Amino acid sequence: MKDLKAKILKGSLPNHIAIIMDGNGRWAKSKGKPRVFGHKNGVTSVKEIIEGCAEIGVNYLTLYAFSTENWNRPKLEVKTLMALLVSSLKKELKTLQENNIKLNTIGTIHNLPERAQKELADVIEKTKNNNRLTLTLALSYGSREEIVNVIKKISKKVVNKQLGLEEINEKIINNHLYTFSLPDVDFMIRTSGEKRISNFLLWQIAYAELYFTNTLWPDFRKENLFNAIFEYQNRERRFGKTSEQIEKLNE
Ligand code: FPP
Repeated sequence: MKDLKAKILKGSLPNHIAIIMDGNGRWAKSKGKPRVFGHKNGVTSVKEIIEGCAEIGVNYLTLYAFSTENWNRPKLEVKTLMALLVSSLKKELKTLQENNIKLNTIGTIHNLPERAQKELADVIEKTKNNNRLTLTLALSYGSREEIVNVIKKISKKVVNKQLGLEEINEKIINNHLYTFSLPDVDFMIRTSGEKRISNFLLWQIAYAELYFTNTLWPDFRKENLFNAIFEYQNRERRFGKTSEQIEKLNE
């Protein structure tokens, strides 16, 4: 593991990693336990991955913690997930402060239970000046909904003549996304063997490298993260250019 870390520290790191944390339910089922047991163990992975990112110098980490579709899950499961969020925020505030980590959220936060909203607002306020790693939790998040909101916000400005039609460009769209303060995603990871994006950051992953692993989220630990980053570093990102052009740029 030490060797692996030393190896990845030699290459260029993804500036922004986004993760679809999947497989908690299946992990629990394989152990004959209820689904919520998987979520509880998933929190340990969340902690390790945040720590791993901070340790090696990744600047932005965005986690898909709860999608707009997740509201359709059994009531007890939704309640447990929200309770886990609140208790984790309470427990981890000190660690976030000590490690200079800033908390941020994306999604329709006003749809979350009041306690969760309050706890999030508190941690966001207390960590707002931290600058080692920005941890963004996607909560009640759906990418299409985000894009619909952007269109509404921009249209309103055009109707009110605050913005001209010809002024609309990619930058303007970026500035109206929930992720307006974040750079594009460089590397997106999904655990548990599913090879889908599931309505996560559709605009923001335009040039991201995608990584799918069979490991279930509660088993995904620092070493798995470092292995994934090692693979990322060994891929060539061309942004539409030819290999020769990229080689020239790197000379
Ligand atoms: C997907 O597994 C996981 C989720 C929907 C929730 C992720 C939440 C946590 C890891 C805990 C709370 C988070 C924080 C930030 C404290 P799944 O239930 O879809 O698994 P399955 O596909 O095997 O059923």
